[in-house]
This record gives sequence, structure tokens and C-alpha cells, in this order.
Amino acid sequence: MTAPHALLGALRAVAGDAHVLTDPDVVAGQVCDWTGRFRGTSPAVVRPATVDEVAGVLRACGDAGRAVVPQGGNTGLVGGSVPLHGEIVLDLRRLDELGPVDARTGQTTAQAGVTIARLHAHAQAAGWEYGVDLSSRDSATVGGTIATNAGGVHVLRYGATRRQVIGVEAVFADGRVMRRLDGLEKDNTGYDLAGLLCGSEGTLAVVTAARLRLVPRPKHVVVALLAFDDTDAALDAVGMLRRALDCLQAVELFFQDGLDLVCDRFGLARPFAARHHAFVLVEAGAASDPTAELGGGIDAIPGIADVAVAGDARAARNLWRYREAHTEAVNLLGPPHKLDVTLPAAELPGFVAEVRDQVGAVAPDAAVWLFGHAADGNIHVNVTGVDPDDDRVTDAVLQLVARRHGSISAEHGIGTAKRQWLSLTRSATEIDAFRAIKRALDPKGVLNPHVLLPAVNDH
Ligand code: MLT
Ligand code: ZN
Repeated sequence: MTAPHALLGALRAVAGDAHVLTDPDVVAGQVCDWTGRFRGTSPAVVRPATVDEVAGVLRACGDAGRAVVPQGGNTGLVGGSVPLHGEIVLDLRRLDELGPVDARTGQTTAQAGVTIARLHAHAQAAGWEYGVDLSSRDSATVGGTIATNAGGVHVLRYGATRRQVIGVEAVFADGRVMRRLDGLEKDNTGYDLAGLLCGSEGTLAVVTAARLRLVPRPKHVVVALLAFDDTDAALDAVGMLRRALDCLQAVELFFQDGLDLVCDRFGLARPFAARHHAFVLVEAGAASDPTAELGGGIDAIPGIADVAVAGDARAARNLWRYREAHTEAVNLLGPPHKLDVTLPAAELPGFVAEVRDQVGAVAPDAAVWLFGHAADGNIHVNVTGVDPDDDRVTDAVLQLVARRHGSISAEHGIGTAKRQWLSLTRSATEIDAFRAIKRALDPKGVLNPHVLLPAVNDH
């Protein structure tokens, strides 16, 4: 391995002195995640501004035998963008150019460091919308959301990130660049490399730009919050709304204890006078006002205990806050276990009923917070009041998910946090195929070598 000072010299030659940061105080926020759960160290954070500079950084690190952790907004929740093994941090946020929106196709090209909030504003200014939205929109980047195949609140309508990506520009570990940004909706010429990079968590190549599909902008958006006194009634309502409304774009789920936490922590007024068990937040969007359609759909739901409909955009934001503030409110209790699972629809009520007991059996003092994306069967299981490194909690929840035929990661990815459990969701044959792809594209193990794939001893 090249001595660190020689590598730093090579990195400075590529990115410029001002963009190779080594002062621990300056890089402190980039060597840990925002929840405080994952904390590492790094000899340097490198901030390239062009694809050629990214290639130069990868070549220098490959020559020096030093691994790289690509990083965007560092909003991930599974430790996938943190240098836990002394890696160089490759900060991609200076790659922040946005191309014009093509009025005929509704496509645009965004560099990796563009935030999702900026991409939304860009699309909206041209009369379009970007199909992926998530609460970390102000920091999360295009590159990071491609690397993790991020989901968010509109998967029900538009799919996760992979479905928005038409092509990518990416740098392989040896510094060679692949560029497919021409926006071809049909291109049946072999392996779908862009699709492969979506969800690859920075292990196969560094995405530097993407050609993205935009969607028509719903001019009218209506939000309502529905209260229920049991989980089954809430999930039945989700099914009824899906069947009745083709303008449905988000259906989110949370529970009374999470609502109490959010209201108490942020001083929010409670949405209903009485207490209930479960809440479903519904968003409908259409070219003409969908209020009557949504109202008709809600009126047909049996077992609904109460309803609040937002009359304007401000009220809609306030209703969304009850759901979106869960993450922040839970984190104020201390670094949580963050588990992000999908269950088959038939298993979801049973999972919700059982998961607290499973956690309680290994961590009696723990608190379990459940919220998520109801239409996707995606529940976020956050556990506080217990050491976030206590693997027994993760194991209890993920084993339950496996018994109920779910997936151990719905949208956050595997990162470092879940890699030892990957075999619960993926067969040995699949993991062998993953390893073969990794070896083929990154034989020296330069790109995020400690995420996604289980350590060899674990498999
Ligand atoms: C959410 O849906 O709020 C996010 O996935 C974040 C989280 O799980 O905390
Ligand atoms: Zn989520």
C-alpha cells in the first residue's frame, strides 16, 4: 500500500489542494452518519468537480490499494456512506449541474450531487415533476438515491428510483467511464448496466450523472389523515383506496405512540381529539381537483374512526409533518436501531402485532416505533432504549421478517448494518452471483468493499 502522504499528493494533483480535506474538525460530519450510529475515520475527504477528476481519484486510490466510500448527502440509514474501515471519502456534491428539461420527452440530465429538492424545483419550473420524493430531499442527492435505489413516499404511483433512470454516466473502479445519457427510452442492446448500478450501493461503479424520466405534474394535490382503531381496518382501507382512486400517490401508516412522540417533541397540535390506534395519511394528485373523488373513496370505508382533510397547501404540509417527523423525533431519543422491511400484504398485520413481543424478548426496556409506506408493505421498525450495536434486536426483527416471507430491506439498502443478514433474503446462489459481478467490475476491491456483501466468514 502506498504511504498515505503519497496518496494525498496524488489526490491533490487530481482535485486541487482545496478539495482534499484532512482536518478532522472539517471532515467530522462526513465520517459519521447523521443518526450518530455509524462513526468512522478517514485520511481524507476528496471533492472532485468533474467526471475526469472522479476517474483520477479512483485510479489514484486503486494504485495505492486504498478503498473509497462514495458519498452524496450522507442521509443513508445503513452505514453505507461512512468510512468505517479508514476509506477515502469521495464526496460527489460538487458535481451539481442540471441540464434542461426536454419538453417533448420530459427527461432531464442531473449530475450526482444535485439534491432531490433541487431536482424537484427544476422539474416543476418546466411543468413536470420528479417521481421520487423522500423526507431527506434537501440533502439526499441524485447519485446517492441511485446508489441505494431510494423509494420514498410516491413509490405507489411512480416506482422507486430505478424506474426513473433511463441511463447513467458512471466511473468504474479502474477509472474507465461509461456514458449513456442520450435518453433512449428503448435500447435493447444487452445487459442493463444502469439498472444494475441502481441499488448497488457504490460497490460496482461511481454514478456521476443520470438521464432521468420526469412525470406529469399533478396540478391539484389533496391530503387527508384517517384514524382507525385497529391495524386490520387501516390496511383494509388502504386496499379500498387503491382500488377506488387512480389518482392515489401516497398512502402512509403510523400509530398513536409515534404520533404522540412527534406532537410532544415538536409541540404540534394533535390532529384528533380522541386517541386511536393507527393512522393512514393519504395523498391524491390529479390534473383537476380530486377532493370529491377522495371524499367519495373515504366515505365508502367502513371502520373509519375519524378523518381530517387538509383544506390548503399549508394544512397538507402540517398533516405530512405528523408522518415525516417520525424519523427526527425517534432520533432525539438516541441512536436507534433502524430496520426497514417489506412484508407480503397478508403477513403485515401479523408482523405488526408480533414484532414488539419479539423485540421485548431480547430487549425488555426497548421501545418499538412503527411507521412506513402502507401501500408498499414497507414498515420502518425503529427501536430505541437499547444499544444500537446490540445485534440481538436486529436479529429478532429480521428473523421474524424471514419467517413471514418478507425482505430485510425495502428501500434503505443493506449497507454495513444488514450485510450479515443478507442470506435471510438472498440465496447462496444469488450471493455467489453478486460476488462474481463485484469481482468482475472491481477486482481490487476499491469501491465500498465493506458494504452489501456479507464478510466471507458470514457466508
Ligand atoms: C421514512 O420513510 O421516513 C424514511 O425511510 C426514513 C426512516 O425510515 O427513518
Ligand atoms: Zn421510508
